[in-house]
Amino acid sequence: MGTRLITVAVVFGTRPDTIKLAPVIKALQQWPDQFNVISIATAQHRQMLDQVLNVFDIVPDFDLDIMLSRQSLEQITARGVERLGKVFVKVKPDIVLVQGDTTTTFLGSLVSFYQHIPVGHVEAGLRTEDRHNPFPEEINRRLTSTLADYHFAPTLTAKRALSAENIPVKRIYVTGNTVIDALRHTVDNDYVFKDKQLEEIAARVRRGRYRLILITTHRRENWGEPMRAACRAIRRLAESTEGDKVIFAFPVHLNPVVRDVVYGELKKVAGVHLIAPLQYHDFVNLMNLSYLVLTDSGGIQEEAPSLGKPVLVMRRVTERPEAVLAGTVKLVGLDEEMIFRSAFRLLSSRTEYLCMASAVNPYGDGKASGRIVEALRYEFGLRLRRPGEFHGSDAFTGRGVRCR
Ligand code: UD1
Ligand code: UDP
Repeated sequence: MGTRLITVAVVFGTRPDTIKLAPVIKALQQWPDQFNVISIATAQHRQMLDQVLNVFDIVPDFDLDIMLSRQSLEQITARGVERLGKVFVKVKPDIVLVQGDTTTTFLGSLVSFYQHIPVGHVEAGLRTEDRHNPFPEEINRRLTSTLADYHFAPTLTAKRALSAENIPVKRIYVTGNTVIDALRHTVDNDYVFKDKQLEEIAARVRRGRYRLILITTHRRENWGEPMRAACRAIRRLAESTEGDKVIFAFPVHLNPVVRDVVYGELKKVAGVHLIAPLQYHDFVNLMNLSYLVLTDSGGIQEEAPSLGKPVLVMRRVTERPEAVLAGTVKLVGLDEEMIFRSAFRLLSSRTEYLCMASAVNPYGDGKASGRIVEALRYEFGLRLRRPGEFHGSDAFTGRGVRCR
């Protein structure tokens, strides 16, 4: 065993990849005599990235500051590739870690390949098999899998998908999803919101008088009419439940393309609170208080099931089938009528609701980042035996109602 430090460059840039890499950075930092951890933010997001960095107390060693308002995919890629290339030349990483499916993920792995640096892909192997859905994430993931050397698959399903693409099994580690590591440290049943409006919403829910519906949307393939239809469904839902003590909290993504639609459709609807993107602790603790989640987000599809919150996913297809199979998540597409009816049913039928509201943990047990670090130690000869893997758990810890 050598004594040289392994330089691990961790590349992130948006809200979700940073939330999911924060626990990995922390876990690597537990081994200062083995790893030199360099954090590199492309800053594909700016304010939403800074919120995450603040909460997890991460100060990037390099901040490439690439975000432009209404940026195109080409702009993110061109600016990111060039600036990242220069940083890698300076840092000379032994390995680069990227996470998930954003354009930052893809360009981090592309530049590593150009400079002959091995890549570890966290959250590898999620697939919809539809190259345009989600867009461009399905292709970002596939390209990253092609470029990566080590594949940290969150679930067995993801491992199977990679293996079907001829990725050598010995290069795949099933780790669980690091989002659950972050969540476990953050959800607190006694959480107090510093923001007055949030604390008021929380107080009404805690007193048991109100049901909270938490909503997010941002996906590129849903821009325009699909997102408008989703908003119309939410407006109808708010109008049909007026007086029924239902509150809608909708932290709106900072993308102006999203904001134009959401504010245009929902600004004046009674009971619907359009709010700024929440810092992570506020968001997951609000989710913990919610009755139902409506979203097109990837990460939220993983978090909500482990809190036993039913999720209606406003997408045509998902790369996260596990919670759908477990019954906590339902794909409702972007059809106004379908979204409205599905949500309305969950508000009016207790039986339907309980069928979905069981906590399941198919995505992780809170130990994913530790497993990733052990896999790296093994690959770099710092431990002798291949580490154990995440086996998943579909243990129902909720009210015990299974409906299929
Ligand atoms: C990106 C990712 C998507 C991920 C999402 C998480 C790509 C192509 N897309 O999508 O996979 O699900 O992040 O949120 O990688 N903006 C701000 N401030 C911010 C963040 C965004 O003003 O802090 C605005 C800017 O005008 C920016 C626009 O939002 O140009 C879009 O940001 P971008 O990263 O291109 O796409 P997202 O839709 O956020
Ligand atoms: N999130 C947050 N504040 C918000 C909305 C979401 O911190 O106002 C967190 C959420 O808990 C999850 C992640 O952001 O961990 C999901 O990010 P997003 O939906 O932007 O991206 P996706 O997961 O779809 O790529």
